[in-house]
Amino acid sequence: MAKILEPTPENIIECAKAIQSGDIVGVPTETVYGLAANVFNNSALTKVYQTKDRPAFNPLIAHVYDAKDLVALEKLGLIDASKLPPAAKTTAEKLITKFWPGPLTIVLPKNAKVPDFATAGLSTIAIRAPKHPVMQQLIQKAETPLAAPSANRSGHVSPTTAQAVDEELGKSINNILDGGPCEIGLESTVVTIADDGKVQLLRPGAITRENIQEIADMTSVGDSQKILSPGLLANHYAPSKPLLLLPSAVLSLNFTNSTELIRKQFPGKPFQQLKAGVLLMSGDTDMAEIYLSGLLGLNTICRKLSVTGDLREVAKNLFKEIRNLDSQKIDLILVEPCNSEAGLGHAIMDRLRRAQVKH
Ligand code: TXA
Ligand code: MG
Repeated sequence: MAKILEPTPENIIECAKAIQSGDIVGVPTETVYGLAANVFNNSALTKVYQTKDRPAFNPLIAHVYDAKDLVALEKLGLIDASKLPPAAKTTAEKLITKFWPGPLTIVLPKNAKVPDFATAGLSTIAIRAPKHPVMQQLIQKAETPLAAPSANRSGHVSPTTAQAVDEELGKSINNILDGGPCEIGLESTVVTIADDGKVQLLRPGAITRENIQEIADMTSVGDSQKILSPGLLANHYAPSKPLLLLPSAVLSLNFTNSTELIRKQFPGKPFQQLKAGVLLMSGDTDMAEIYLSGLLGLNTICRKLSVTGDLREVAKNLFKEIRNLDSQKIDLILVEPCNSEAGLGHAIMDRLRRAQVKH
């Protein structure tokens, strides 16, 4: 069973030593919790894949402490900057200066020293400098970049608390560093840079398209890149109960259009026999429960993701609330859509679409 450790200097050093000796540790970051290993240690990387039951074709993100530029990443033995065309180099430097430390992962040409295991055999490596002080101290003490995928079993919802890491992987790891609830709650934005210096978004996150466009041009991802970012397969981030993303808010005029969609999830079963967990973006949960039972005869537990509809609050609570509903005695989870897919709405809707698994 895993020990959940307060992030004292002693515990951070203990975890750093564990990593140096080839163990894997549950770690906090500002996005979601990760499962960290020394990026240069093949047997530790194998443990990461085995523990998560992660397909070998899905590469890992290397986490660094406060790298200021490409030279620093090359010195760490992570990248081969000579393989970057000048325009791409300029963009990479701009992204690093503007967004690190923070929730932006940049895909760059990999250094020959990085084991193929870390990158699933790709010629590139995904790197980010996390902002969470506990993770920063751990990387410093471990004296090596840390490969860290989200600390969930493959395909599941990412954990945003130490307790959620324990539920996911506690039986198979020794230590989880508790850095409190994650501030952002969604995995980092992942980008790659085309030869002409344009940024391509592989996974939306808290660094939004709009944020990136302020400093660099963007272009859409071609089919070849889709294959090169194997973690972006649909049916990711899934709870064990069926999750349906509603086409409109519960207390909106259009909501009645959702009735048929909900019914299709359980053909032949009357609503009276079902219980749904419902996540509202904001608003009155009591009123939504009364409305859903009056209109459809559907029993619900309604929870709200934010007080005012602030998308940062929605993102922070989303995975925690999905996890919470998933553990209750319900038949399905219904989630309201964001009002807009601009800004953080893009990442939230991306995760919700992927969480909709056909059960
Ligand atoms: O916020 C985060 O990024 C968290 C925390 C722990 O840092 N980590 C995380 O890791 O979400 P993971 O392994 O769950 O997601 C990594 C994503 C996957 O979609 C993977 O396919 C993509 O990054 N990726 C990794 N290396 C890549 C590469 N060389 N080229 C393209 N995509 C890559
Ligand atoms: Mg993940």
